[in-house]
Amino acid sequence: MTNSRIPGFYNLTLEERRAKLAEASNRTPEDLLPWTTGGISAESADHMIENVVGLHSLPLGIGLNFMVNGRDVLIPFAVEEPSVVAGASFMAKLARAGGGFTATTTEPLMIGQMQLINVVNMNEARLKIYEHKAELLAIADAIDPVLKKFGGGARDLEVRTIEESAIGPFLVLHLIYDVRDAMGANAVNTACEKLAPQIEAITGGKVHLRILSNLADRRIARVRCTIPVSELTVGFESFKGETVRDGIIAAYAFAASDPYRAATHNKGIMNGVDSVVIATGNDWRAIEAGAHAYAARNGKYTSLSTWGKDKDGNLVGTLEMPMAVGIVGGATKVHPAAQAAVKLMGIKTANELAEIIVSVGLAQNMAALRALATEGIQRGHMSLHARQVAIAAGASGELIEKVAAQMVAEKVVRSDRAEEILKAMESGK
Ligand code: MEV
Repeated sequence: MTNSRIPGFYNLTLEERRAKLAEASNRTPEDLLPWTTGGISAESADHMIENVVGLHSLPLGIGLNFMVNGRDVLIPFAVEEPSVVAGASFMAKLARAGGGFTATTTEPLMIGQMQLINVVNMNEARLKIYEHKAELLAIADAIDPVLKKFGGGARDLEVRTIEESAIGPFLVLHLIYDVRDAMGANAVNTACEKLAPQIEAITGGKVHLRILSNLADRRIARVRCTIPVSELTVGFESFKGETVRDGIIAAYAFAASDPYRAATHNKGIMNGVDSVVIATGNDWRAIEAGAHAYAARNGKYTSLSTWGKDKDGNLVGTLEMPMAVGIVGGATKVHPAAQAAVKLMGIKTANELAEIIVSVGLAQNMAALRALATEGIQRGHMSLHARQVAIAAGASGELIEKVAAQMVAEKVVRSDRAEEILKAMESGK
């Protein structure tokens, strides 16, 4: 059993953290090795994409304190932005006091789209497709025996009519496919390509595009957490819990009603979501596309999360979004660091991963809103940013913290000042 609470983790050395992580997660140091080496060699990268010349690394940090559906989980974050890991871990600690995160998922249903053009009679074609639905589904169902073995396969076929477009009216077919623990793009695209000739024969039209939709609104992950109002003062003793709670709710109201704010609010959610999506080798562009399309599903771009209070005055947060992630194919399968991530979290299904990811998204969102609604984002952000500026100015070892601390104390976090402070410290002045 994993224990996601590791007090003082932040203050340990890299080596000590690795040892603590192995101990807290009941893993061997070898299980965590891909993170000490960066995961893949340039040679294996050469088989993944084109024109490879090397590798590009990101920091890998561990999100602490998370309890998702009653289970402790240590969560790997691959991200370059300071404050993300610390913010989510802190909020996960507050959420524990209210029972942690409660998450659910729909069945892992992806949508494959086929654009049917050059149809003489749209209604006739639409009904003919429905008449042949069973045989079309049977063809699509047979394309991936492995998926089928694990309970996946074609589930439904729907026909939509686009009445007005630059090329006039046309039909769109949606193939609904259960992809189980895969992200599903390959299975769905293959199935759509396979169905196209049959659909052309049935309707007399032409199947133009055949591709999955990233608006994966049949594959939704949902999460809820309750933060006891008393917890909201932790670390913010000068604020009343009710003030912090109402500040967070007012911040949410801003995002819910203004797309300019909603974009930034959702970006904060994606800081957490993408970090885990990347750490597990999943396609973060697909997740980003799905998230923002979903946020605009009612015709106006809005917040993916909600914040309010329960009958006892506690803060309640929710997040719902498409979550098309897999644990069996693609980079997740071939990248040793992604495998280490899946192993560390002890997950057996893609749905469990999706539930963890939305929990991180909600924690991250709360971290940002709590800071914004109280002392502002810059204070916490600045001390971490100052470390990066110190490193960029040439500081190493102990001097990183020292140079950063002095810049924060002076409230001047700039590379020229970092260089001056560093020079003075090195010369012992
Ligand atoms: C910065 O990466 C994310 C925030 O802007 C999110 C937000 O404003 O809610 C702090």
